[in-house]
Amino acid sequence: MASARFMTLDLDLAHPSNQQDPFPLYRWLHDHDPVHWSVSLKMWVVTRYDDVSRILQDPVRYSSDRFRRIRAEFAGRRPDIEDVAGILRDWAVYRDPPDHTRLRGLLNKAFTPRTVETMQPRIQKIVDDLLDRVADHGRMDVIADLAFPLPATVIAAMLGAPGADLPQIKTWSDQIASYIGGAQRGGDNIQDAGRGLKSIFEYFRALIRTRAARAGDDLVSLMLAAEDRGDMLSHEEVVSNCVLLVFAGHETTTDLLGNGLFHLLRTGAHRLLRQDHAKIPGAIEEILRYDPPVAGKIKVAAADVELHGRRIRQGDLVAIMLAAANRDPRHFDDPDELVVTREGGKHLAFGQGIHFCLGAALARLEAQIAFTTLLGRFRDLRLIDDTPRWKPQIFFRGLTALPVAFR
Ligand code: HEM
Repeated sequence: MASARFMTLDLDLAHPSNQQDPFPLYRWLHDHDPVHWSVSLKMWVVTRYDDVSRILQDPVRYSSDRFRRIRAEFAGRRPDIEDVAGILRDWAVYRDPPDHTRLRGLLNKAFTPRTVETMQPRIQKIVDDLLDRVADHGRMDVIADLAFPLPATVIAAMLGAPGADLPQIKTWSDQIASYIGGAQRGGDNIQDAGRGLKSIFEYFRALIRTRAARAGDDLVSLMLAAEDRGDMLSHEEVVSNCVLLVFAGHETTTDLLGNGLFHLLRTGAHRLLRQDHAKIPGAIEEILRYDPPVAGKIKVAAADVELHGRRIRQGDLVAIMLAAANRDPRHFDDPDELVVTREGGKHLAFGQGIHFCLGAALARLEAQIAFTTLLGRFRDLRLIDDTPRWKPQIFFRGLTALPVAFR
């Protein structure tokens, strides 16, 4: 059946039905076209676990620097695209060695396991306060009331940005996400992304001027002070990576909380976790495998390569679908089942290799505190509407709203 559907339907990841439920298409691609040329996206789409994992671990042949190339491509013709690409290419996530090695080394010095650990009581307090606000209502929108404000407040607090600035930061971040996430809105979302980036950069430039004059114990001060063999981050690099941390650190965690709670309630698995909180960390890993917030990443072939008989040319874009790899039956038993007690098999939700997510420990900690507190505090949690509304994006996956009721 699945096969018949894709013989006749467009194999287009951007098609609205595939954006709402991409998994049948991923399965078809695993079996029939594991290195697929997408006409609409103008890039290769790789779906099998072993291939995705190999590409993540091969930064020499698969570059992360897609924005340097985009900038050159549009030089002189589209200053709006050139501007955005010029900013994004400085993010650690889009740099290759040796620049990436240097930047990541310095970021690791600021963003340590200890920095994350010390956030535990603050995260707990933020979760408690957010749940206090809705406790008497008997219902909440998990996205608006918890999943968005929690990671955004945490990362803003870590960077030393005042909580009152959050709505503004969210607007800018959404504008950037609509471009990077491959949203299909019909409009030219590059201009929104450009506006969002300019404003958020100005915001952090001002914040950094204050911190440079008077250091605190926040991440900005730590980044300004980070030193590796006499090397330090320039102020512009600190600004750029603050924006990366805001961007990488909240939309993704919002989606982990939203996707996770949706699937737990849909399958009833939340009851098991409610009885046994020790199972929550394992359940979070399974949620990350089953429906990861970063569904795919785009790399650029740095040389001509051959994969499953397909010839990928130097400069071609290669979309590696983490969400598809995480459902590859060659790697996971019953991949389409959410099994919160699953053992073995390493998901790729945080990537692999040199770009492995810098914030993985923070995201896990936030999810653990949020799920433990929510399930422990609210009884009879249930979905009000079990038709999920997924954001119309290809490379990020998350819900626009998640209304639930409780006692
Ligand atoms: C559930 C939540 C999250 C998911 C699913 C996620 C996913 C990812 C993935 C897949 C990558 C690898 C990118 C690549 O190979 O090109 C990555 C990198 C990164 N993530 Fe996360 N992330 C999450 C949360 C966070 C948080 C909370 C932060 C920071 C506060 C963060 C900061 C970063 C940074 C800075 C990088 C770039 C690392 C590098 O290039 O060396 N992420 N993330």
